[in-house]
Amino acid sequence: MQSQQTAASLHAFIEQLPKAELHVHLEGTLEPELSFALAARNGVALGHDTPEALIAAYNFHDLPSFLTIYYKAMEVLLTEQDFFDMTWAYLSKTRSQNVLYCEMFFDPQAHTSRGVAFDTVIQGIHRAQVQAAAELGVESQLVMCFLRELPAESAMQTLLASLPYKDWIVGVGLDSDEKNNPPIKFAEVFARARAEGYRLTMHCDVNQQNTLVHIRQCLDDIVVDRIDHGVNSLEDPEICAEIARRGIGLTVCPVSNRFVVQNLTGDEIRRMLALGMKATINSDDPAYFRGYMNENLIALHEDAGFEAAEITRLVRNSFEVAWLSEARRSHYLGLLDQSLAANI
Ligand code: HPA
Ligand code: ZN
Repeated sequence: MQSQQTAASLHAFIEQLPKAELHVHLEGTLEPELSFALAARNGVALGHDTPEALIAAYNFHDLPSFLTIYYKAMEVLLTEQDFFDMTWAYLSKTRSQNVLYCEMFFDPQAHTSRGVAFDTVIQGIHRAQVQAAAELGVESQLVMCFLRELPAESAMQTLLASLPYKDWIVGVGLDSDEKNNPPIKFAEVFARARAEGYRLTMHCDVNQQNTLVHIRQCLDDIVVDRIDHGVNSLEDPEICAEIARRGIGLTVCPVSNRFVVQNLTGDEIRRMLALGMKATINSDDPAYFRGYMNENLIALHEDAGFEAAEITRLVRNSFEVAWLSEARRSHYLGLLDQSLAANI
């Protein structure tokens, strides 16, 4: 493979690579067109006349301003079929970009708090996962996120509600508004989740207050398997060394970062790779940030000069830190190697 490729050939290279996504919020995949269809089906008012007008109102500049729009928009999700349709749309879209494996977050409390049953949410999502595996050839697993601004008791209730569906959920995460909601608030919930056999991850969003304290709590107190975002770990060499030594994956979301903190974080991703940290590339909330997996990788090429070797390292990292069996991991790494061999 040439070290410098034309933009067109690098796009083609990115598009055909077999890829994995590890940080995508299903509710963040709700495209405006589907929101309008669900709003009409359910008789919910969206407050905008067209999908274009809805997109024009996406003026987020930080995490809270994004979350306000994100929670409002998901009010169209009411029935099992709605959750199916949203999940099916994401899996179809991401499969069309050669993403073969995904770990997808969902936010049950954002629905149960509106009177939608946990069962409704997970049954709809799961049915789409099964159908997409059979018909589209895309494998996926679910990661249940707790909303960190809600009390730990609510997270614990949600964890208990999930237990009958333990076989459908691979891990738990922590998302939403990080300000004044540190990881340690959920220590008991995550200890119980670990005891139940769930894998553990938590958001340490970019440029949050007390970010290094939060990352330390993830490493030392919660003992996470992965960290979502985690870009600010670069501010502490000891934290970087520990993340590298423990092989903890960091699920970075460049296009999301460009929206929320006005920085694609290309330099930061390069530094992570140079330090041996397992950085991965992800879309976060692709319907809102207007970019799925390939658009994230292409943005790294176009705006930060990433070439094929670095793109390949990032894609390989995703399969390496995915919550897969060793047999499935080898299968996907084999597909990646085959595709690279065909590109020489
Ligand atoms: N950060 C925190 N919470 C979220 C995000 C995010 O990027 N997306 C959806 N919920
Ligand atoms: Zn996220």
